[in-house]
Amino acid sequence: MIHTDVHACLFPVAGYGTRFLPATKAIPKEMLPILTKPLIQYGVEEALEAGCHTMAMVTSKYKKAIEDHFDTHTDIEQSIQGSSKETLLEPLNALIEQASFTFIRQKEMKGLGHAILTGRPLVGNTPFAVILPDDLCHNDRDGVLAQMTALYAEHPGHCIVAVEEVPQEDVSKYGIVEVKSFASNTTADLLRITNMVEKPSVEEAPSNLAIIGRYVLIPEIFDVLEQTPPGKGGEIQITDALLTLAKEGKVLAYRFQGRRFDCGSVNGFVEATNFFYEKEI
Ligand code: UTP
Repeated sequence: MIHTDVHACLFPVAGYGTRFLPATKAIPKEMLPILTKPLIQYGVEEALEAGCHTMAMVTSKYKKAIEDHFDTHTDIEQSIQGSSKETLLEPLNALIEQASFTFIRQKEMKGLGHAILTGRPLVGNTPFAVILPDDLCHNDRDGVLAQMTALYAEHPGHCIVAVEEVPQEDVSKYGIVEVKSFASNTTADLLRITNMVEKPSVEEAPSNLAIIGRYVLIPEIFDVLEQTPPGKGGEIQITDALLTLAKEGKVLAYRFQGRRFDCGSVNGFVEATNFFYEKEI
């Protein structure tokens, strides 16, 4: 466990998860399991390891199962008491003990930027982390968010976004960044963002460095989001708000250590399942 200035992690989990229909008609995408653990629980574990003890979730009326997952279930607990199955719930109960869970509802799906802005009352006026749980990250040593909160401690006052190289033909699925070296850089994996484009065509893309679902953000982002008009797809885009701060030199891109699985897509979900299965046997 590390100690940093970043104490809260925001989980924007209000989206409909339409790529996983019909599975996501009645079950939130974030509750789909990789083996026996739902995606959201992997995310909360990563946040806790990074030093965040407040899990701030932006949900919707269709996502009650997420709240229930992080609460007690006395009927199940009584029914498995004294049996070997008790150990199955222990890691989750330990998480529930160590973190506090707060929830707010996004009433209309106006995009990721809007979801983050909706979480403002839960986060307050402090730097905070963001995890998109359908991007499942794994590293044998420090988790991806822990790497980022440690970097934030070295470079306070900056937003840090996790990036990775993606195949050229996939750039249109991501926010893509243009970078230059970062003067006071301690690691070549930390770069300054000079421009970013949401879901560009191959021709428009300034690079093949894609933003993935891990961010450390400064509270200034909320005021910027309030002024950010709907962008690509008619949604309020976090990329557009970050670009405003990037122009002031306040946004860094971090090429993280570890693997990321895009569990919002069927291929990524199957890849993650196979990866964790191989690890567990
Ligand atoms: P996605 O673009 O993956 O959308 O959102 P989605 O609804 O989850 O999935 P598909 O594309 O329909 O299959 C990225 C993240 O932003 C959240 C989602 O829950 C996901 O974690 N989000 C998106 C919101 O919380 N609110 C929104 O209005 C949009």
